[in-house]
Amino acid sequence: MKNTSLSCVLLSLLLSLILTKITWAEAPINRWYISTQATQGKALYTEHCSKCHGKNAEATPDWRKSDNEGNYPPPPLNGTAHTWHHPLPLLRLTIRNGGARFGGKMPPFEDILSASDINSIIAWFQSLWSDEIYKRWASRRESQISKPK
Ligand code: HEC
Repeated sequence: MKNTSLSCVLLSLLLSLILTKITWAEAPINRWYISTQATQGKALYTEHCSKCHGKNAEATPDWRKSDNEGNYPPPPLNGTAHTWHHPLPLLRLTIRNGGARFGGKMPPFEDILSASDINSIIAWFQSLWSDEIYKRWASRRESQISKPK
């Protein structure tokens, strides 16, 4: 009898440990944006960006290869390329000013999109990033979220 209740206690301890572990593993990571931003961003992205970066931000898979004139194609923004190396302020700047600053071809959007439009678009393409990639992005020192201006 004594043994049985001891096993019961041990078993429930074990179970609660397992359950806690599962809850930890599944705890959603905190992203800087809210889901409505990402939804608005998708529409804006489709209108302004998809013709170059692809319908689901997947273009261009061969983004490391420049053409004969040394120009690079639009890279995927969906987390499979290099974009997650850039902190939020730099992502905003690239979209506002385009690529001319570093000899690139992307057009500037500062006269077309507001700061909040740009934040929504970033929210949308970041919503395509896996938690793993998002965490790596967020843990880079420069990525510390600065409040939208
Ligand atoms: C006319 C084609 C074109 C359009 C439209 C365009 N881009 Fe780009 N984008 C590029 C190219 C090409 C690059 C690579 C750098 C360069 O050449 O300027 C780039 C680079 C980027 C980068 C840097 C990515 C990295 O990994 O370094 C971001 C972010 C980006 N674009 C976001 C956007 C967003 C958001 C929009 C819509 C508001 C957009 N782009 C519209 C062509 C375009």
